[in-house]
Amino acid sequence: MIRIRAAVRDLEEYRPGAFVAGAIKLSSNENPLGTSEKVKTAILESMERGRLDLSKYPWSGDELELRREIAAYLDVDEDRIVTGAGIDGVLDTLVKIFIDAGDEGLIPIPTFSLYESLVKIAGGTPRYVRRDRDFSVAVDAIASAYNDRTKMIFLASPNNPSGNSLTEAEVRKIATIAAKSVVVIDEAYAEFASRSMVNLVDDEDNIVVLRTFSKAFALAGLRVGYAVVPVWLADVYRRVAMPFSVNNIAIVAAIAALRDKEHLRKTIELVREGRAYLIEHLRPLFRVLPSDANFVLVDVSPARSRTVYEALLRRGIVVRDCSSFRGAGDSLIRITVGTKDQNEKVVEALEAIKATIAHF
Ligand SMILES: Cc1ncc(COP(=O)(O)O)c(C=O)c1O
Repeated sequence: MIRIRAAVRDLEEYRPGAFVAGAIKLSSNENPLGTSEKVKTAILESMERGRLDLSKYPWSGDELELRREIAAYLDVDEDRIVTGAGIDGVLDTLVKIFIDAGDEGLIPIPTFSLYESLVKIAGGTPRYVRRDRDFSVAVDAIASAYNDRTKMIFLASPNNPSGNSLTEAEVRKIATIAAKSVVVIDEAYAEFASRSMVNLVDDEDNIVVLRTFSKAFALAGLRVGYAVVPVWLADVYRRVAMPFSVNNIAIVAAIAALRDKEHLRKTIELVREGRAYLIEHLRPLFRVLPSDANFVLVDVSPARSRTVYEALLRRGIVVRDCSSFRGAGDSLIRITVGTKDQNEKVVEALEAIKATIAHF
């Protein structure tokens, strides 16, 4: 028998939001506007002009241009930007850098499941800290769980699936408690929120902020993400990362997406309006959490999330049943903010479902 490492033997496969042909997909927090026309044109024109040549490996000059554009977008130094195949790819590299067998990664739950998988794959141990009822992270709980083996702390802000953000004061406190660890702030949804921790990377030597082109920039299919890191980390990151992890098309598309400010503005406006609409119309039916992201978390109790998920599916709408999130219980569904029409359909469907809940 060929041996498989013990660390990966019982690993669970990552479960993405479901896709059901013909249904409205509100299960993966994608952009309701779709990809910008300017991005599509940039890809086609770059190919026609020969600048985008798929027979060639990505060129470091193009990657540098992308980093420059990102640096200008965030108003940070380009030396602090590192890139990867989505935030997933960036996280993979970071965990390789910091987690050895026996090390711990601190994870407030419920949250994005990849953190725990990557820590386990590296041979480390995820240590879970339960979030409060409002899903905030208790800094005291982090302090109690923190120990000599803690090498990374994973904080999504806004958090998936709850949608709430950390405050700057909380992040600073955690960074001080965890002075010998890397504090990862996953800002996949930051464009929809009103705050970002990017500026903290300048002040604190152990904070890393992750960003993506998958959400507000509508490029989830191309897999482009990046991190703002302290300068000491940028060099080792580049040595550890897979070569060419951001592909040729992704580089051209990400640059064009950053330049299309109008598409970004429209996306943010649509999401903020849709989010307010969903919260206002779903609150009479269920407990709905406040959200800084492009989704809302709904507690459908006394019904089970699975039952409501299936009832929505029968009405042609796919949302995320959060029972697969560690520590989320079995009554939470997460709904991505869609177009106006899609949001109205969700509200209509949930009103009808709520009326039947007594029979579940
Ligand atoms: C908190 C969080 N981080 C990261 C990701 C993945 O981002 P990317 O598409 O850039 O890999 C997601 C995707 O849903 C997410 O919710």
